[in-house]
Amino acid sequence: MLVLGIESSCDECSAAVVEDGKRILSNRIATQIDIHKPYDGVVPEIASRTHTEWIKDVVEGAVSDSGAALTDIDGIAVTNRPGLIGSLMVGLSYAKGLAFASDIPFTGVDHILAHMYAAQLEYDIEYPFIGLIVSGGHTIISVVNDFDNIEVLGTTIDDACGEAYDKVAKYYGFGYPGGLIIDKLAQKGDADAFSFPDPSLHKGEHRYDVSYSGLKTAVINQLDQFHNAGYEKTPENIAASFQKAAIEMLAKRLFKAVGDTGITKIVAGGGVAANSYLRSLLSEKNNLNVYFPSMLLCTDNAAMVAGIGYHYLMRGDRAGLDLNAGSRVAGFKKNYP
Ligand SMILES: Nc1ncnc2c1ncn2[C@@H]1O[C@H](COP(=O)(O)OP(=O)(O)OP(=O)(O)O)[C@@H](O)[C@H]1O
Ligand SMILES: [Mg+2]
Repeated sequence: MLVLGIESSCDECSAAVVEDGKRILSNRIATQIDIHKPYDGVVPEIASRTHTEWIKDVVEGAVSDSGAALTDIDGIAVTNRPGLIGSLMVGLSYAKGLAFASDIPFTGVDHILAHMYAAQLEYDIEYPFIGLIVSGGHTIISVVNDFDNIEVLGTTIDDACGEAYDKVAKYYGFGYPGGLIIDKLAQKGDADAFSFPDPSLHKGEHRYDVSYSGLKTAVINQLDQFHNAGYEKTPENIAASFQKAAIEMLAKRLFKAVGDTGITKIVAGGGVAANSYLRSLLSEKNNLNVYFPSMLLCTDNAAMVAGIGYHYLMRGDRAGLDLNAGSRVAGFKKNYP
């Protein structure tokens, strides 16, 4: 089955053709990073307008890159939540129009579940596993039972991990988007220059939760109480110390989830899954099987949408033209072992 995926939830305008939920035939990703750079963040109105201008070429380009014709496409999968509502509406409306005009079945896809599926495009990973979503808007540790069934163990109680990277970078003028820039700076810095504390949340219903708001504020203020004497306050040292705190907080909760559930497989997804320290910290654990999508599939892309969409379409899910866009995730249960 050939599925055309369409993704426009934030500032990437993407379309892809994927065969049987696995084989990527094309994956066009038109990023708006340069357009939003002057503002150090995504401007929603500009993002949706740009999607409107780009979507037709991106979708037609993805179909043409795949070597297939539109008449060969068996189904369309489109991100309809969560994200910027105006941006989502562009991809969703385009998908509806195309589905209606070409008489192709279509389905809506949750962007977070699509991030969780991304690694499945490259590896055969049996369920269940511990899932880690770390992106610009979400931080979720879960038990993943199936492509559409995740039990949330922990989330951020305030800022998302990627958001903290972006805000720290914005404050220090490192550039946009901040994650990759901080990751690169950190590799030349000393992570012991500052000791940013892990928020003490490890109790009761918060035992798998993380918090980035306090860390972000501490890094921005970098009060002398966090600074270790003998180190210079260089951008590299700030980046390395922030990265150590941000990533080790996640790793600690993940290792706790592994211990409590007995599940030793971890699958990551989302933009921060591209982080070099996260990748090395998890991969060095010999008792775990850890899967990261390749870099291109960590950040927003339509291949992951087409990939998971295949499973919905195969079981007969069909959306109607009344399908709506939604800004928030829906229907994830919080559950503890
Ligand atoms: N190497 C890296 N290290 C840390 N963070 C990174 C790295 N590369 C990208 N990021 C971060 O990943 C985020 C973008 O990821 P993604 O595209 O998945 O987020 P989003 O789509 O905006 O949010 P969501 O998926 O929650 O809707 C940004 O916050 C960016 O700074
Ligand atoms: Mg995303």
